[in-house]
Amino acid sequence: MIKFKIETWGCQMNEYDSQKMAGILKKAGYIETQSEKDAEIIILNTCSVREKAVHKIHSRLGVLKKRFKGEKILGVCGCVASQEGRALLEKVPYLQFVLGTRSTHLISKAVEQAQNGMRFLDADDHESEMDHPVTFAERSGQTKAYISIIEGCDNFCTYCVVPYTRGREHSRPLQTILDEVRDVVQNKNIHEIELLGQNVNSYNYRGTRFPDLLEAVSAEPGVQRLRFLTSHPKDFSERLVRVIAANSNICRTIHLPMQSGSDVILRKMGRKYTRAEYLEKIEMIREILPENWLSSDFIVGFPGESEKDFMETMDVIRSVKYDNLFSFKYSPRPGTAALKLKEPAVLNSAASRRLSILQHTQEQIQLNKHLRMINRIFPVLVESVSKKNPDFLTGRTEGNHVVHFKAGRGAQLIGRIVNVEIKSVTMASLKGVLI
Ligand code: 5AD
Ligand code: SF4
Repeated sequence: MIKFKIETWGCQMNEYDSQKMAGILKKAGYIETQSEKDAEIIILNTCSVREKAVHKIHSRLGVLKKRFKGEKILGVCGCVASQEGRALLEKVPYLQFVLGTRSTHLISKAVEQAQNGMRFLDADDHESEMDHPVTFAERSGQTKAYISIIEGCDNFCTYCVVPYTRGREHSRPLQTILDEVRDVVQNKNIHEIELLGQNVNSYNYRGTRFPDLLEAVSAEPGVQRLRFLTSHPKDFSERLVRVIAANSNICRTIHLPMQSGSDVILRKMGRKYTRAEYLEKIEMIREILPENWLSSDFIVGFPGESEKDFMETMDVIRSVKYDNLFSFKYSPRPGTAALKLKEPAVLNSAASRRLSILQHTQEQIQLNKHLRMINRIFPVLVESVSKKNPDFLTGRTEGNHVVHFKAGRGAQLIGRIVNVEIKSVTMASLKGVLI
């Protein structure tokens, strides 16, 4: 039996693609392993959103070459594969195949060819392949199922490589999404669904828009928790928030990436909303959903970002008080419009300082918010036995907080939603007792 290992970098979309590829390979008779030594086939599913991520892939390829050159089949999929395509195959002679983000369905063909000594390249835009229901994705051992609803992005924010690696927006047919939801709930016994897209709010399948889709998935029997990721603020509507409010199984958890609190920078980023418009959406969410969990992405050090611009970002962070934040130093990406901006680059030392101020401030905000959760009871979806202490289970709240709690009945609770009273907190996680 031939074993394969998939290593995944980057976002949830890549994780979903890896699950699809694992499902296809298993169906074709291969066996999945987590051990690189046992694997005859090693597949890197890659991310290129920031330069650092691409460096990591190249250094991983270097390590694999040293350890196993000629012994194993090596393939690269995902965003680096889409972006570099043939050049990657030419640059890395010990690589057997390169598959772009829209070619994942060709994984077993790529592996077969490699086994016959032939190299394989496909980074084309196989749009219609995405229209098939994905009932074979590998989901064993999971308590949450990612389901892609829209691929690609048409927004072309000036810093972002995604529209070049994941192509134009393509909404999956409603029926194939619902088929996948049913398969997950009925056959895989998974009750939390996370709908994925670079911008879920642009979902449009023959007039069915995202709020309609969300309503339809929420109505499926067995869907206990429903989330979605990511929303572009310009398309984030009141109607969507009202659908969330009307359905108790939709998490009041909203990720609304702002990127910068400065109008000058937002304009240069091509984000198509102002600071005031963004803050109005936050107000609207808080009015309609009194209990809510908000998170965001911010970039510091975008070309031309002054101290004043950065202070405007900090001002938003201090006033909104997000429950979670993802923050990054700007990383110039090949082919993006930001490379052509005339504004001077921000010194790396200044960008690092800004990032650390932002992250330190957020840590304090998060800790204070966590402290307010003490002695309150929250439903927690149990995910696993704690890695540190086998007497403890680990799960997540509706707001995505990691919760550790002691549980005598242990593993049989995995996959279920239980009530936990929070007893102590850190900046990163919560500890509680089963009620
Ligand atoms: N540099 C830094 N961060 C980036 N992101 C996207 N492109 C870049 C880049 N070139 C961040 C954005 C986005 C998140 C997924 O990654 O904040 O929301
Ligand atoms: Fe990138 Fe902007 Fe599209 Fe998000 S909306 S994937 S940041 S181009």
